[in-house]
Amino acid sequence: MDLARFVLFLFSSYLDTNFRKSKQGDAIKARNALLALLAAWLTIAPTGGVAAEAKTVTFAVGGASADFDFWEELVREFEAGTGIDVELLRQPMDTGLRRQSLVVPLSARKSDPDVFLMDVAWIAQFAASRWLEPLDPTFAKGGCGDRDAFFPRILTLADTYGGELIALPVFVDGGLLYYRSDLLQKYGLGGPPRTWDELLRQAKKVQEGERRATPGFFAFVWQGAQYEGLICSFLEFAGRDGGFTGKGGDVAVDTPGNRKALAFMRDLILRHGISPPNTYTEMKEEEARLFFQGGDALFERNWPYAWALHEAQGSPVRGKTAIAPVPSFTPGRSVSTLGGWHAGISRTSDAKPESVRLLCFLTSYEVQKKLALRLGWNPGRRDVYEDPDVLARMPHFRALRPVFENARPRPILPYYTQLSEILQRHLSAALSGRSSPGEALAAAQKEMRAVASRYGGR
Ligand code: GLC
Repeated sequence: MDLARFVLFLFSSYLDTNFRKSKQGDAIKARNALLALLAAWLTIAPTGGVAAEAKTVTFAVGGASADFDFWEELVREFEAGTGIDVELLRQPMDTGLRRQSLVVPLSARKSDPDVFLMDVAWIAQFAASRWLEPLDPTFAKGGCGDRDAFFPRILTLADTYGGELIALPVFVDGGLLYYRSDLLQKYGLGGPPRTWDELLRQAKKVQEGERRATPGFFAFVWQGAQYEGLICSFLEFAGRDGGFTGKGGDVAVDTPGNRKALAFMRDLILRHGISPPNTYTEMKEEEARLFFQGGDALFERNWPYAWALHEAQGSPVRGKTAIAPVPSFTPGRSVSTLGGWHAGISRTSDAKPESVRLLCFLTSYEVQKKLALRLGWNPGRRDVYEDPDVLARMPHFRALRPVFENARPRPILPYYTQLSEILQRHLSAALSGRSSPGEALAAAQKEMRAVASRYGGR
């Protein structure tokens, strides 16, 4: 395109210079005809008349440090197959920081990044801000293949906004309980706990025994720092008897089930001492994973990504861990929070056709299979769960399928992140003992309702 414009410019200047030397009428006719020809060429060039130069796609992605080798490799594979260059924009692991670093360019209507991964928790905000390119036309043209290959519940819940498809799931997350099967056996404890009380009993026994040789042993690590992960843990501690109840402006969190859950979380740290004191100051996904992987914990609450890392060559817990659903206070009332990351295209991208190709590549069967085999992540496509190679490598995909299929979403509201930030602050105050669970939840609810009513409660 740029070359074409340059040629047009040179040609036009040439005619201008010669205009004075020639017969006026002929020169004007010749010049107009040639300019029209070139203009027509410029118009058709990008759609195929002459090969258009593919634009570079800027792809923003974050995660644990080990993930980047994988993204890097995928991107190089895409470039080799398509001739489209991709610039990888590295983001941190923390979902809040990742959101912030996207909000700035998107709200300023910048042309980059073109493609990015979004946490399921904040897709609604991006969609309501009209930052996301609708994807229905892509499917209508057969772009990303078969829409039925994706989980319909996830597409409806997370990827559709105002009747438009605006994102596609790259991987889905559900909270899980990792445990050391060797330690449960060593202490004659049988299977993993189904209830929080049982977890507490097992934790106390194992911790007491292990502390003799390992003074830094803490039986249970989970995400308790003040960030989005704390909300995910809290919803799981509360199970089906708690969580966000009420809709929109009526959002209710100060409930008996939630008070019980929050008191239990605090007691794990401050009373029973089975979760480390830095739980509420530092514990995010990677802190919990590394602690458990170092061999210093019995239980860990984390997302599926931790599995492959625990099982990696050289990991001290390799071959000693197993996965179970998160416990609940009453058997059968367990909840796994629905997490996951979805790819979207910026409405102000200057490389939309190239971005669509990258999006379709990321959600293709081959890439999703690789993501499951290499990283142990749960694919966003349901057809990959039937793949024999995937099932052989990840037997828990079959066993825990109901956990993932029924995982509970956080409220899907454009102002959810504001509600979450309020709740995080108050939960953290209760975990550190600065306020009681009742005070914390009552104060959170008041502030959350004020935010919701500012948005009209919807
Ligand atoms: C994971 C989940 C995401 C969640 C975040 C919290 O990345 O996929 O949904 O919000 O953890 O830390």
